[in-house]
Amino acid sequence: MPDDRQVIAVAGAGHLGRYVCEELLASPDFRPVVLTRSTTTNTTWFASRNIPTYQTDYTPASILSILDDTSATTLISFINLASTAYITIHAALLQACQQSHHCKRLIPSEWIGNIDAYPLKPAFYGTTREPFRQMLRSQNSVMWTLVHPGWLADYFLPSEKTYMKPIPHEFPVDPNGWRVCVRGSGEEEQSWTCGRDVGRAVVVLCRAEGEWEPVTYIAGEWSTFNAAVKVMEKFYDRPLPRTEKPWSEIQKVLEAHAGDEELAEEAELAQVDEMMVMSYMAVPKEKTLRQREKFFAGVGFRGLQRLLQDAQGADFV
Ligand SMILES: NC(=O)c1ccc[n+]([C@@H]2O[C@H](COP(=O)([O-])OP(=O)(O)OC[C@H]3O[C@@H](n4cnc5c(N)ncnc54)[C@H](OP(=O)(O)O)[C@@H]3O)[C@@H](O)[C@H]2O)c1
Repeated sequence: MPDDRQVIAVAGAGHLGRYVCEELLASPDFRPVVLTRSTTTNTTWFASRNIPTYQTDYTPASILSILDDTSATTLISFINLASTAYITIHAALLQACQQSHHCKRLIPSEWIGNIDAYPLKPAFYGTTREPFRQMLRSQNSVMWTLVHPGWLADYFLPSEKTYMKPIPHEFPVDPNGWRVCVRGSGEEEQSWTCGRDVGRAVVVLCRAEGEWEPVTYIAGEWSTFNAAVKVMEKFYDRPLPRTEKPWSEIQKVLEAHAGDEELAEEAELAQVDEMMVMSYMAVPKEKTLRQREKFFAGVGFRGLQRLLQDAQGADFV
């Protein structure tokens, strides 16, 4: 029987990209293939699911030959870089799409918050993602959209229940060490979506006929970290030991690193803290709900309470 599933190429499927790969695989319409620098590391995970991996150095020629060999129609990037190497690699992805026979849709690696209102935040996105967004806008041969889910709600889950790597120094709630360090007051608005629902939404976008919008927002829920802590404590029937990091402390670090050429780890963390305290990660409600109706009516995005319940399932990940 001929295989008439569309091929979707996924570049850098380290953590978040795995959800997209699995959801593409579960759909009768698509077949994922993975681009990776790696020859061996992590490829077992893909091999065990019959997802082909193609080794690349992310140069235009190398990417182009994979896109043409696989007849991919769409390229989705999860390449995680805070340096200007992000621009070089994404320019190569775009160029390869432009030169390819069939791959005329691109989703770059963005996956954060409200970039319509705060396109230069965090600052390391301003110096990496924003210049590439301008390259996208200056061409019209490849259709593109920047997908933004707010926080990944997976960080509320124990590590064995998610493909995301725990980031206890970045995310306020640490479900593995069982503690919380609230940035600011904890009352600032946030939004979050779990990785599995990001995967489902991306499949819907791949299926969508017609034009994508330049920015696509999704959200499982709008809430605050104080409210999330209450949900966690009630669900697990256990108080979360709490510390706080005030905005003044975060500001000091931002100011100390304001003119840095290289991004120090401390500065990167402070930029992420700023995203919480200033609510930059909360995707805009009106646009998100409009797009939910337009594109994602069947997805059923989960809030935190429902995610915690679902994660009790034995094979949930
Ligand atoms: N909204 C949120 O809460 C949230 C949370 C986490 C991440 N994110 C965003 O989501 C995206 C994916 O995150 P992730 O955690 O899934 O990423 P990840 O697993 O850390 O990395 C994804 C891929 O990036 C590639 N990569 C890393 N360093 C590279 C380098 N120096 N040169 C070339 N490629 C490199 C690797 O691809 P190879 O397979 O080729 O090695 C890796 O598999 C990123 O844009 C990140 O900023 C958002």
